[in-house]
Amino acid sequence: MDDEVRTPNEAAPIPAAPAQPVRDDGVNRRTVLRMVSAAGVLVAPIPAAPLLTAGRAAAEEVPVSRPLPGPVPGSAARATPGAVPGPVPGIVKPLPAEWFVPHGTNAEMRWDAFRDAEGDAVVGRHVPVERFFVRNHTSTPLIDPDTWSLKLFGSALRGAPTAEHPVEFGLDDLRELPSTRISALIECAGNARSYYLKQQNQSVPGTPWTLGGVGSASWRGVRLAEVLRAAGLTGAAVDVLPTGLDPDYVVGGTNYGPVRRPLPIAKALDDVLLAYEMNGEPLTPDHGAPARLVVPGWVGIASIKWVGSVEVAAHRLYSPWNTDFYRMFGPDYPPGGGDPLTEQVVKSAFELAAGVRLEAGREHRLYGRSWSGAAAVRRVEVSADGGRSWRRAELRDEPRADGWVRWSIDWRPERPGPYELRARTTDRRGNTQPERAVFNREGYLFGAVVAHPVTVV
Ligand code: MTE
Repeated sequence: MDDEVRTPNEAAPIPAAPAQPVRDDGVNRRTVLRMVSAAGVLVAPIPAAPLLTAGRAAAEEVPVSRPLPGPVPGSAARATPGAVPGPVPGIVKPLPAEWFVPHGTNAEMRWDAFRDAEGDAVVGRHVPVERFFVRNHTSTPLIDPDTWSLKLFGSALRGAPTAEHPVEFGLDDLRELPSTRISALIECAGNARSYYLKQQNQSVPGTPWTLGGVGSASWRGVRLAEVLRAAGLTGAAVDVLPTGLDPDYVVGGTNYGPVRRPLPIAKALDDVLLAYEMNGEPLTPDHGAPARLVVPGWVGIASIKWVGSVEVAAHRLYSPWNTDFYRMFGPDYPPGGGDPLTEQVVKSAFELAAGVRLEAGREHRLYGRSWSGAAAVRRVEVSADGGRSWRRAELRDEPRADGWVRWSIDWRPERPGPYELRARTTDRRGNTQPERAVFNREGYLFGAVVAHPVTVV
């Protein structure tokens, strides 16, 4: 990751041996204050003070943002802990209709909100926390950072600590380990799912995201590798299993337990971050406070929020999130399903409302962003004639593997009428957006070119 930054006091070598920071109050020190915000059910006391006060960090970390727009429907819930927020049950932060589209327990980010009425950019390379999409299986828990600890256990840690007697790190312990800052996208595996139906006439269940189930941010934390080593990682490790502290996921009468998804040890040791800051400030509740994983390039489900424990095993680990969900099933996949999803596919989005009205006979500068889980973007092409002809867009950033590239292209439609704009991206590994996505039962990884309707008047 090329923009990784180590601050001077972070150059300390990785501690060789586990510090065994097990606290004397051990597992009984239950730290999670779970608030099932949707139902308003208080499982444990809410911390008295809001958890979200922190000083501003380095200037370059602060994304470009405008103040919140004026009152809008659904933004009444100004995050008073304990209040039931709207319009999405279980999400704590305000969700102004100008910025978000609610879907069940999730909030999709609106691409047209990246520009103001004059067409000027209001979102920089990183999406401000308050505008970042939220994907919750259940609801955002409120966790007291002072009493929270990360518990590690399993057969591939020295001494094979058990879940009952784990190795524990409080937030202060983690902050004492060398810290790292990275840029990374979080993108839901189901992002763009609605286009299976809209463009391919294929019906799939699940959240009907358009293209706003994605966001780019700067993350600071400690490499998962550092934590695992400090906890006594042995060479026998095969998989790690981070588990979230949000309420159990229950659907159709089945309780799947807490959200948890195994990661192969090779990825865990490569570039995974245990993040405690987002865009220069402590994580907020909706985005995983006090600590979450950030798994660069991979489907968003890998980036477990509110992580409470990590099992480190000398054998393969399974959960519903790498067996039942987040795998490909369908006629073009093996009978038992494909491998658990890892890398994200290439995508492009216009920073433009669907159906926007543009004046005929004058030039319009169209803006957009493109990204890929596999590599930096190589080129972006745009078509305004249904894909018959394509023109190269101008890339406005140096393409990087750890984020999206912003681009623009000028377009002068002469005749009024309905048009469809298309953007097609190719990454440096040669992956290009196809015309059609291969169907899968759950509607994951829709990477085909998306038709963006506009009306020329
Ligand atoms: N972690 C927990 N514990 N619970 C969740 O519901 N959702 C996952 C992931 N981590 C989830 C989670 C999914 S599917 C995505 S896309 C990302 O978190 C979304 O992160 P965000 O809400 O910060 O945008």
